[in-house]
Amino acid sequence: MILAPSLLAAPLADLGKAAQDMEEAGATWLHLDIMDGHFVPNLTFGPGTVRDLKGKVQAFLDVHLMVEDPAFWIEPFAQAGADLLTIHIEADRHPQRTLAAIRKRGLQAGLALSPATHESVLEYLWDDVDLILLMTVNPGFAGQAFLPPVLEKIRRVKAQAEARGWRGYIQVDGGVDERTGPLCAEAGAGVLVAGQAIFGHPDPKAAFRNLLRRLKGADDRG
Ligand code: DX5
Ligand code: ZN
Repeated sequence: MILAPSLLAAPLADLGKAAQDMEEAGATWLHLDIMDGHFVPNLTFGPGTVRDLKGKVQAFLDVHLMVEDPAFWIEPFAQAGADLLTIHIEADRHPQRTLAAIRKRGLQAGLALSPATHESVLEYLWDDVDLILLMTVNPGFAGQAFLPPVLEKIRRVKAQAEARGWRGYIQVDGGVDERTGPLCAEAGAGVLVAGQAIFGHPDPKAAFRNLLRRLKGADDRG
């Protein structure tokens, strides 16, 4: 069970400190949300910010690209030090080509599905992905409400992964907190992203530790 704090929900003028705090609390992954104002109606940060963070922490940098034409961004984010690049299937006409290019560049490749995208799109892509991200909000903002229908999708993707012997990560992102996170873990998610549930708390380090403890308990039952 991995809990990846989403730095989008941290004070953006103090990202380095937020990243270091999360590492001190025990985070081994950091989730970085890249938005281009086209695929989603918001703007965040780019490769320069990722490069600066890379110099401050040891954590695995999980970069979630909410951008059109994600293939264009492989090289800039690879040079910045990203460890994993996740693209949205809704943003790419040729996802298999882009996923293969990410791996060829030496990074792990993730594929994200927005809430209304059916998991059947995975049919011809299982061999090309290290991570499948099932969005539990419409991408674009931290602090949105969790969409419960996606729980069934998590269960179905987990069942398909097991049937195929696929050994990658199933990640969930959006509205994950102490109530919804354990439901996702029980449904089969192994990597949970949380923004507001951690950084909206007066003590984000304590919030990280408490949420991770809850998720591990749910994982043992799942
Ligand atoms: C939403 C982003 C998420 C977001 C999560 O588009 O992909 O990573 O920051 O934040 P919470 O946990 O607050 O929904
Ligand atoms: Zn994200």
